[in-house]
Amino acid sequence: MTEKALKPFTIDFDLITGLSKSTESTKRPLSKMQGMFADDRAFNAALQQDDPLVYEFYELDLPETAGNLLFGTSIVYPGKVGDEYYMTKGHFHTILDTGEVYYCLSGEGAMLMENPEGDCNIQYFSPGKAVYVPPCYAHRTINLGKEPLVTFFTFRADAGHDYGTIETKGYRKLIVERDGKPEIIDNPKWKE
Ligand SMILES: [Fe+2]
Repeated sequence: MTEKALKPFTIDFDLITGLSKSTESTKRPLSKMQGMFADDRAFNAALQQDDPLVYEFYELDLPETAGNLLFGTSIVYPGKVGDEYYMTKGHFHTILDTGEVYYCLSGEGAMLMENPEGDCNIQYFSPGKAVYVPPCYAHRTINLGKEPLVTFFTFRADAGHDYGTIETKGYRKLIVERDGKPEIIDNPKWKE
């Protein structure tokens, strides 16, 4: 991390696409989402056809120090695997007791949250809505619309990411399309 990064600066994020010309995004194509969706057969069939981008995010290269903030945009593209909507992997923070705020710039979707005690919660995104993720809640962004779901996020810079717990256990709930509408169901693959 450079000294320069600690000086004030301004960065552009496109309000509709979330993209930024001044930095590189981290990309998660379908091939990086093995095991994340409930329907493995639909996943493998989709991957045989193509390897579309499911989501990408811009997280700026700032010092991960106490007192600092990380921020960026997350872009989840529209689509489904079987009847399950495209989503992020979701994560806890390594410092579990970390809150986070997401603000929706464009698109429609949901934030699926759960804590280690099993409390599950879903909040919905549309442009102008902010979702508060309380400390200790895993969080996953899900695109329920037809356009990219673009959110701006910020959280304490030293919090770190724990993807492994979700990759291993999954979420207790997931969101699928039923009769053209989103429905919350129990995750058949969830492991205690
Ligand atoms: Fe987070």
